[in-house]
Amino acid sequence: MSKRIPLIAGNWKMNKTASEAAELVTALRASVGSQSQVHIVLCPPFTALDRVGGLLGGGPMALGAQNLHEKPNGAFTGEVSASMLRDLHVTYVILGHSERRALFGETDAVVNRKVLAALDATLRPILCVGETLAEREAGRTLEVVGTQLEAGLAGVPAAKADQVVVAYEPVWAIGTGKTATPAMAQEVHAFIRARLGQLLGLETASRVRILYGGSMKPDNADALLAEADIDGGLIGGASLEAKSFTDLVNSAARSVTA
Ligand code: 13P
Repeated sequence: MSKRIPLIAGNWKMNKTASEAAELVTALRASVGSQSQVHIVLCPPFTALDRVGGLLGGGPMALGAQNLHEKPNGAFTGEVSASMLRDLHVTYVILGHSERRALFGETDAVVNRKVLAALDATLRPILCVGETLAEREAGRTLEVVGTQLEAGLAGVPAAKADQVVVAYEPVWAIGTGKTATPAMAQEVHAFIRARLGQLLGLETASRVRILYGGSMKPDNADALLAEADIDGGLIGGASLEAKSFTDLVNSAARSVTA
């Protein structure tokens, strides 16, 4: 059993208009709104943040964004800053997702500047790391994940280190229906925690939540969440329906008492 409060985060990606988002949140308020054993974060697209935030109020579900720009303001057409998110009561932000790395050219250096900008604005970064299938097959998983972690967290001030959440998302498992087995995921999670110990100190590393992401569904969640270093999930597809997301939250709650 994990010593940390589990966290289930929904990454809605580029799905849901503001009106569709409002419908989903209304359903989730009824199904998981009274959950106290699990931290829940909803990450809708920018265009739905205000509407979703209004519905969440001060309730137990927190609001997250899927990206930010590293600069506080200025001539960056189409971009959104940390303080703009903060003003909408956003408290978490997903950074370095593999889709942003692969499709929008985000390097470790860019991701690192975003992590520092988030922490500076008192947003909690959910730093995503993970290997491609080719990297896994070449036996490079731990090297790739270690590099992404170290580069992504460079310069994080000790006083803010425990605000960081890490998500291990093997790229080959995202949206494919292929999940890492619990043992495969635990091996990487344990490696991440050990590396966090070197980077941030053992005490902080023992408190940082490490989420698994990649085709996590109600039928595989119990086994993944039973692993010692898997503290929750970053959920894509299964976060878009109230029923499957609620089942995942309930699975995380069971992992506390198991
Ligand atoms: P799926 O759950 O759809 O595989 O997506 C995972 C993910 O990318 C979450 O950030």
